[in-house]
Amino acid sequence: MSLITIEEPTDFGTAEHPAALVIMTNACNLTCRHCFVYRTDTPSEPRDKMNDATMLYQLKVLRDRHKIRSMLFMGGEPMIRRDLVLKAMQLFEQSSIVTNGTYGIPSVPGHLVTVSLDGPEFNNDALRGEGVFQKVKEAVFERDPTDGTTVILQMTITRENQRVLEEFVKAVADWPVNGVAFTFYVPDKNDATGLGWDDLRDRDRVVQKVIALKRTYPIIKANIGALEMMLSDVSLEATGVSGENCRLKSTLPLYVGAGGQFERTFCCYGNNVDCTRCGAYAVFNGAYHRKHNRQPLFNGMRLDG
Ligand SMILES: C[S@@+](CC[C@H](N)C(=O)[O-])C[C@H]1O[C@@H](n2cnc3c(N)ncnc32)[C@H](O)[C@@H]1O
Ligand code: SF4
Ligand code: SF4
Repeated sequence: MSLITIEEPTDFGTAEHPAALVIMTNACNLTCRHCFVYRTDTPSEPRDKMNDATMLYQLKVLRDRHKIRSMLFMGGEPMIRRDLVLKAMQLFEQSSIVTNGTYGIPSVPGHLVTVSLDGPEFNNDALRGEGVFQKVKEAVFERDPTDGTTVILQMTITRENQRVLEEFVKAVADWPVNGVAFTFYVPDKNDATGLGWDDLRDRDRVVQKVIALKRTYPIIKANIGALEMMLSDVSLEATGVSGENCRLKSTLPLYVGAGGQFERTFCCYGNNVDCTRCGAYAVFNGAYHRKHNRQPLFNGMRLDG
């Protein structure tokens, strides 16, 4: 009989982190061109793994040590370890999952599942791989929409898919989901993908488009005040040049690094990110709430208000 050794988690100090995210696996069945997880500066080698018992133990220890109340389960593709994710979700007051949807949509009543789709079929598949759009659509239609799970489709807007936002909303308008969310591409400092905007004033036009769509389509989950904070004349107030103003910076990012141990990256989007061009919706939503002295964001996932 082989015994599994359960190691203590990495020492990240004693600071409180009401919100965290965890990479459940470095493995993924897709190779999306925009993905920040697989950048060279970020720990994400599929050979680095943590076994189930260790993962559950370490998450519990870190929860208690850092007072983590809200956990976002991510990957790689978290549904590759579906059973483990479902168990680990029970450890936290609030748990949510972000998935590529190709392994089906998990039924997790009372929780949020964000399903990534980056545009209508042609554009999504150009970024996420051929056949992915139809596969995700089938999964969404196969689920029981009355099971109590909140399911949101999330499109990451890039310079490549920026012109098909309305087409996307129309394409999914009759899908059995609770809403559609938009977030924008987060580049790294030496981004050469061509997916980001060199001049943020060009991105402004797209932000304005999302604001206009939000006014037309109630299915869109977005806070117009937060989107306005993304505009180029004020966006640094929310991000800072190096993340010093970023509300998301207090989220503890648990990546899996060498030897299968948790490693903390600079922020949720990994290392070597370009904060001046960050498009993460949650950053601007957080800044909006800070500015208006509203309750601090609990998990960065509040989408509408
Ligand atoms: C990294 S994925 C991990 C979970 C799962 N594999 C998925 O695709 O949903 C989480 C989310 O980050 C988004 N994403 C990936 N690269 C991004 C980038 N450079 N900037 C902003 N969002 C990005 C994805 O589109 C997805 O919605
Ligand atoms: S499915 Fe998710 S983790 Fe996998 S490559 Fe695409 S964005 Fe990255
Ligand atoms: S890249 Fe975005 S989320 Fe990360 S620290 Fe910078 S502003 Fe915050």
